[in-house]
Amino acid sequence: MAEHPDSGALSETYLQISPNILASFPKFRPPVDLYVFDPSVGRTGRYIRGGERLSRDGQAEVARYAEEGLLYLLRDDYRIYAEHLSRKLGLLLVEEGFQPQEVAEIFFIALRNRMAEFLNQPTEDTLEALRTDVAILAEYIWIDPGRVAFLTHTLERDYDLAVHSVNTMLIGLALYLRLTGGKVEKTVLISLILGLLLHDLGMVMVPKFIRDKERYLVRRDRESIERHIEAGLNMVRRLKIQDPIILECMDQHHERLDGSGYPARRFDGGISTTGRLCAVADSFSAIVGDRPHRSARDTAEAVRMLAGDGKRYDQALTALLAQVMAERVTA
Ligand SMILES: [Fe+2]
Ligand SMILES: [Fe+2]
Repeated sequence: MAEHPDSGALSETYLQISPNILASFPKFRPPVDLYVFDPSVGRTGRYIRGGERLSRDGQAEVARYAEEGLLYLLRDDYRIYAEHLSRKLGLLLVEEGFQPQEVAEIFFIALRNRMAEFLNQPTEDTLEALRTDVAILAEYIWIDPGRVAFLTHTLERDYDLAVHSVNTMLIGLALYLRLTGGKVEKTVLISLILGLLLHDLGMVMVPKFIRDKERYLVRRDRESIERHIEAGLNMVRRLKIQDPIILECMDQHHERLDGSGYPARRFDGGISTTGRLCAVADSFSAIVGDRPHRSARDTAEAVRMLAGDGKRYDQALTALLAQVMAERVTA
């Protein structure tokens, strides 16, 4: 028997399962242990173990408990339920019981999966699904920009294109909120989030063995990689994306202040703020990711590397990056 979840949905130990949350689980086989609060004895006991099958009557009973606010799960199980909730992101805006680090994890899973689907099949349908989740994230951040501190803690180390895209987006978003002091417009947030997510879209056209090399590239490999900019822009044009923020992020994230970048070898003022911001976020996310030929560097080292490279990276932004990384929150 566990303790009474006296503060209801805000309990430290339990998360109350509303009918909406319950609906995100498979009906007859809940993925997590379910607990029921018994008001007559003031205690919470386990109803069923995760993965066990509920009978039809059991299912109806569980649905009733949820209606009455008596159904709970353990917060410690959140990695399991996060997978399920990531398919119903809108719940994060209406349910009040989630803790910010749970929400951050659920957003990460959802966006990584949506991004992987879109990269796999970049069509209007998968783009629409991605856009829907991006709008929910924008709303969530717009309500309270301070929430981004939890999101930047969820970066993953894998160097998979979907993970890299989400990591880049979270860092870029945090930078942007710092830069603007949190005074942001929702539509701009949506565009920036999409731009950061899509920055490397054209990479799907580059053979993976060349993408993974990074070092010891022969000239032909380098040209092939550099073409990911044009390839990505062509792909979004076909998807009828014309938003300048998205296009700048895709077009300029490899431009460097000293003119050593690509594709247009722009200098200083020729690179927009969005382009500079995407460059810092993208490079940081690449450095902290695991690559086939080297393991990931830690975040403090990544910040030092970029802050020490004032010739190529905007130092006002790398200073903000240092602040963002210092203020990440885990709990
Ligand atoms: Fe790129
Ligand atoms: Fe990138």
